[in-house]
Amino acid sequence: MLKKVRAAITGVHGYVPEYILTNEELTTMVDTSDEWIVTRTGIKERRILKDPGKASSDLAVKAINGLLEKTNTRASDIDLVLVATVTPDMQFPDTANIIRDKVGITKGFGFDINAACTGFIYTLSVAAKLIETGVARKAIVVGTEKMSTIVDYTDRNTCIIFGDGAGAVLLEPNYDDFGIMDEFLRSDGYGRQFLNMEGGGSLNPASHETVDARQHYVYQDGRQVFKFAVTGMQEAVTEIMLRNKLLTQDVKWLVPHQANIRIIQSTAEKAGFPMDKVMLNIERYGNTTAATIPLCLWDYEDQLVKGDQLILVAFGGGFTWGSILIKWAY
Ligand code: COA
Repeated sequence: MLKKVRAAITGVHGYVPEYILTNEELTTMVDTSDEWIVTRTGIKERRILKDPGKASSDLAVKAINGLLEKTNTRASDIDLVLVATVTPDMQFPDTANIIRDKVGITKGFGFDINAACTGFIYTLSVAAKLIETGVARKAIVVGTEKMSTIVDYTDRNTCIIFGDGAGAVLLEPNYDDFGIMDEFLRSDGYGRQFLNMEGGGSLNPASHETVDARQHYVYQDGRQVFKFAVTGMQEAVTEIMLRNKLLTQDVKWLVPHQANIRIIQSTAEKAGFPMDKVMLNIERYGNTTAATIPLCLWDYEDQLVKGDQLILVAFGGGFTWGSILIKWAY
């Protein structure tokens, strides 16, 4: 009998820039306090790429080079690079092509996917399909963000939340029923009014007016996003567990997008997960948008055991939301 081809993660690596932006430093920039930020978001510090000559692709290249080295993989063996980002180096060409060139990947192809904070989930799902259908054999999926380039450091509603970083996974075919087992993906454009960056696209191309109106920064209605995020994350976890007939005890780790500790806690509570089964690093990195989930996997990699079932879950701008069920392959 022909065995089903699945796409399995066979390595994970991350990179965060050295500069640490603490809550204390933020109090010198906006009217806020360490206590407010910690209790409302769970964030204590985030990393910032200070070098103006470096972009999201440079963060990704660091993560990918580390990944190739630790998995003994040659750049020439990679035939697919998918990038999740809302902070591409430029409008075009896409960041995937820039990364391929910088890493020295010449085989196959690559492209970017913009699904904001759900970007890694969407992108991992697409890469898995390309592996399952034989289009690709060795794929890299990377979430990379230089959020500091689109954050307004005079807006206390948003500047406390975001950070820079990149996380990458290697994806390969698996014939033994390990890997990406299922996914639940959703989007609803109604949500675009609550979380967006209006300037710089074809609707509002860059002009003195768009700069003066601060349209090249993230805009967020935090309360609305919070409300939808709680519902969307809960739906995504519940649906994938129901569909796969999973009980909480069958799942080793919940790997939530790191947007706000309170959203994570309510998602875990609703699905019956104790917090010691929930991957967390929001305290140190803040919300790195498409990079939070692979950065979590990287931080917890040495605690993962072959056969562990993981649920990845995220909610983000669009709105977009979704979950992925993984049976860990190594
Ligand atoms: N420091 C101090 N006070 C602040 C503040 C800050 N950094 N930011 C906002 N406030 C104030 C507000 O102005 C408001 O004051 P007011 O009542 O006088 O108007 C008060 O704190 C409460 O604001 P509110 O927006 O209701 O706070 P909140 O508990 O919802 O927390 C967020 C704000 C942004 C942390 C929260 O809404 C959130 O995390 N939303 C989702 C964000 C998210 O997940 N984004 C990524 C997409 S996945």
